[in-house]
Amino acid sequence: MNLRSLPGGTLQGTAALPGDKSLSHRAALFAALAEGESRIQNFLVSGVTEAMLRALTALGVPYQLDGTTLTVHGRGLGGLQAPSSPIDCGNSATTIRLLAGALAMAVVPSVLDGSAGLRRRPMGRFVEPLQAMGVEISAEAGCAPLTLGRSPRPLRPLDYDLPVASAQIKTCLLLAALAAGGPTTLREPGPSRDHTERLLRSQGISVTGQKLVTEDGHTLYVTRLEPPYSLAFKPLVLSLPGDFSSAAFLIVAALITPGSSIVLHEVGLNPARTGLLDALLAMGADICITNPATRSGEPVGDLVVQASRLRATRVGGEQVVRMIDEFPIFAVAAACAEGVTAVTDASELRLKESDRIAGLCAELRRLGVNAEERPDGFAITGGALPGGAAVDPHGDHRLAMSLAVAGLAAQRPVTVGGAEIMDESFPEFVPVLRELGARLEPQV
Ligand code: S3P
Repeated sequence: MNLRSLPGGTLQGTAALPGDKSLSHRAALFAALAEGESRIQNFLVSGVTEAMLRALTALGVPYQLDGTTLTVHGRGLGGLQAPSSPIDCGNSATTIRLLAGALAMAVVPSVLDGSAGLRRRPMGRFVEPLQAMGVEISAEAGCAPLTLGRSPRPLRPLDYDLPVASAQIKTCLLLAALAAGGPTTLREPGPSRDHTERLLRSQGISVTGQKLVTEDGHTLYVTRLEPPYSLAFKPLVLSLPGDFSSAAFLIVAALITPGSSIVLHEVGLNPARTGLLDALLAMGADICITNPATRSGEPVGDLVVQASRLRATRVGGEQVVRMIDEFPIFAVAAACAEGVTAVTDASELRLKESDRIAGLCAELRRLGVNAEERPDGFAITGGALPGGAAVDPHGDHRLAMSLAVAGLAAQRPVTVGGAEIMDESFPEFVPVLRELGARLEPQV
């Protein structure tokens, strides 16, 4: 599907976001491990969460999806069946990484595989520490497919420095560590999202997070899991916040289309996720948070966003971790801002659904933007967004949505090819934006 994005619209009104992707994955997985009926409202129904639901089916866990309400009939760890064929995790790195930890903990021999794109993404970064714990797991050249065997019990406790801050790796290791015979300590160089820790605490498991400055001045984020561990997971009753990472597209769309004014309801505002808000506020964005509240253990609020004149900023260090999924749309904001916006310390972006540094800069250049690729980031000279070209999202949902948003503020229309990839995380992207007044024309 091609999506034509046209300038000239103004965004007005209110919108609600689909449920958070990270929380949807975790909620479905925890519900599968629990004994009893779990009910998850505002579950994200999309390509990547379907991968997790396929895994539930492969493991013999029944569920029903009624609109966006997911009901899971868990039978506890003992009720998980070893799948008869490889579990297809599709394009979902969250599914394969979280599942690997959970199935290591629950001792479910299995093969985890996925799309050609997923097979290119690094898995060695958690396979190696899992092996150090005694988990029987192998990967082909550090990539999927992954083969899990019958690991001995208990596993060895882990004391480990993650080379890169990553909530997916942290979650995988924390889940496996529940089968260890002692405490686990993980150190990360940045503040990755803590949704798993919040869910583990709600299960009565002791997990703490602490910021630590070392003698040589480095900041580390330390997560500690302390026994006793209960492997009897309780069913969950959750109502998930709107996904901040999806809200990000609407926020930037409203900021850069003149005359826009929108309100986004009940958006998840976990501080480990909202680095983009800080970056946009530093650029002069008019964004207010109203009605702050807590929903299913996570902070939420309404976001009131008005079109704004943006000026360039710099992003690097820990802030990169707090906005790791938002760089494609941030780059679009940067293209509309006055001055040179520079991003550093973000080489991890090369290992996401696409190489988000190379792909992003190449496609923005097609739109006439001065975007310079750097080894660990990019520099964008903003102020004008000529548009008037067809762009390729490199099979990456966030690149596709960002380029469509760019078209709304460009001088000439933008056509995004392969736009159906948006369904991986935000299937309602086009209708929600059109409802607000954006000029988006799908061309089948
Ligand atoms: C996610 C963590 C992030 C993010 C991904 C979802 C999660 O990955 O990019 O979209 O749900 O834990 P890393 O923490 O591995 O960078």
